[in-house]
Amino acid sequence: MNILFIGDVVGSPGRDMVSEYLPKLRAKYRPTLTIVNGENAANGKGITEKIYRSFLESGAQVVTLGNHTWDNKEIFEFIDSAKKLIRPANFPDETPGTGIVYINCNGQEVAVINLQGRTFLPPIDCPFKKVDELIEEAKKRTSFIFVDFHAEATSEKQAMGWYLDGRVSAVVGTHTHVQTADNRILPKGTAYITDVGMTGPYDGILGVEREAVLKRFKTTLPVRFEVTGGRTQLNGVIVELDKTSGEAKKIERILINEDHPFFD
Ligand SMILES: [Fe+2]
Repeated sequence: MNILFIGDVVGSPGRDMVSEYLPKLRAKYRPTLTIVNGENAANGKGITEKIYRSFLESGAQVVTLGNHTWDNKEIFEFIDSAKKLIRPANFPDETPGTGIVYINCNGQEVAVINLQGRTFLPPIDCPFKKVDELIEEAKKRTSFIFVDFHAEATSEKQAMGWYLDGRVSAVVGTHTHVQTADNRILPKGTAYITDVGMTGPYDGILGVEREAVLKRFKTTLPVRFEVTGGRTQLNGVIVELDKTSGEAKKIERILINEDHPFFD
């Protein structure tokens, strides 16, 4: 079983990359499940219902979120009816939406879990405790479990990878927008990467206009961040799982940009 995961889609340049390349990637890798992180999809902050639906139309079966989940207020109108949209599971219980979804992939159920880190991010419930609960629940139904851990600190993401080694099929990091080259299979069979990277404009700073970010660093004044223009990239991973045990066999990075064109 192949699972394709596309890293944080930033604004309309990122969405354009998804609509152009997701069908091509699906034709190339024939994934049984495709997941897109869409927490920056609406102009860098949050997601709308129309964008969520456009990801499903491009071939995604699950859309995950992160710290920008609530930034586009439209989310409150559709999150409860969007059955393939998940937000970090360790947000307080009172918040709308859910952090786990089960997808039937040709008769095999796969659980997809979204979590958020707590280091250098707003305080929320413990992702380690929460994931224990969710794995216990999921294991009653399937041994195919995929985790998107949306976190800032490399150490927290590595900690989660080791914590879940042998208990889930894959732990992929999102949020920091720079693809890391540490993709590997951990000793007990869990695929891991610290950060999948970002899908969107790569001549800015993490997808945002350079001038605004520089002004913020130089002056510390509040600045409005806008998604930048220019060249665009797509970042993702393809994870291959044993079709009976759910154990990971392979995790490969995907990078498409001007210097790394897509090949069939
Ligand atoms: Fe984020």
